[in-house]
Amino acid sequence: MGTLRNELKKRVVDLVPERAYPALRGVRASVFYEPERVRTPHARDSVPETLSEEHVRDAEVVPSREEMLEAFPKGGRVAELGTDEGKFSEQILSITDPDELYLIDVWESNEYSDRSVEEVETRHADRIADGTVEILAERPDVALERFEDDSFDWVYVDTTHTYEQTLRELEVCRRKVKSDGVIAGHDYCLGDVPNGQWYGVIAAVHEFCTEYEMKLTYLSLETHGHSSFAIERIDP
Ligand SMILES: C[S@@+](CC[C@H](N)C(=O)[O-])C[C@H]1O[C@@H](n2cnc3c(N)ncnc32)[C@H](O)[C@@H]1O
Repeated sequence: MGTLRNELKKRVVDLVPERAYPALRGVRASVFYEPERVRTPHARDSVPETLSEEHVRDAEVVPSREEMLEAFPKGGRVAELGTDEGKFSEQILSITDPDELYLIDVWESNEYSDRSVEEVETRHADRIADGTVEILAERPDVALERFEDDSFDWVYVDTTHTYEQTLRELEVCRRKVKSDGVIAGHDYCLGDVPNGQWYGVIAAVHEFCTEYEMKLTYLSLETHGHSSFAIERIDP
């Protein structure tokens, strides 16, 4: 049954040009927000390329992503790509005290379909009212394009975890984050492997670091294995 459904989704995705996805919001949004997962249910990228010494020599291992936040710049302009219920955004607010925090999510995916943007608006009502938090309900890579280049102090990427989407988001972040800023993200791991759900985050991050001369600066080592990473330019 699952295979038949995947086959049908693949056909729909192949028939519809990518530029038409935004217009199809609400039809069966998750198919269009996650086309790569449909095309590559088992990510081909489960064997990431190895980084060289220059990409890892400054990496600091921390016990949790919250401790990684402790090391990040305070204040400034920040974005979380993939917000879900907005719980991690609470940590971002309390630990890093950003001047502006943009919470960007489609809030319409397959895996998190019961979450709603209203829930997040309620959770952060005070900070929306005081002008710190702004919520953007759309695809993060598209939403970020509207901001000036070199304007974010740091960004946290946590969306579909597919290789393609992660790489696309990292590419946008490279332009939108200041040259001495930080690109961070979640699920630097191979995925929910026992359940056959592979992530392409490590593959995308390694490829990105090699291509654009970025280095790992933080890696969190939670016991559940869903590490967070932070990368910065080797030569800002
Ligand atoms: C793992 S959750 C984010 C969790 C949140 N950062 C946290 O730590 O609490 C992933 C989020 O990505 C969103 N998402 C799914 N597909 C997406 C897509 N194509 N583009 C952007 N966001 C997507 C989902 O709606 C979901 O809320």
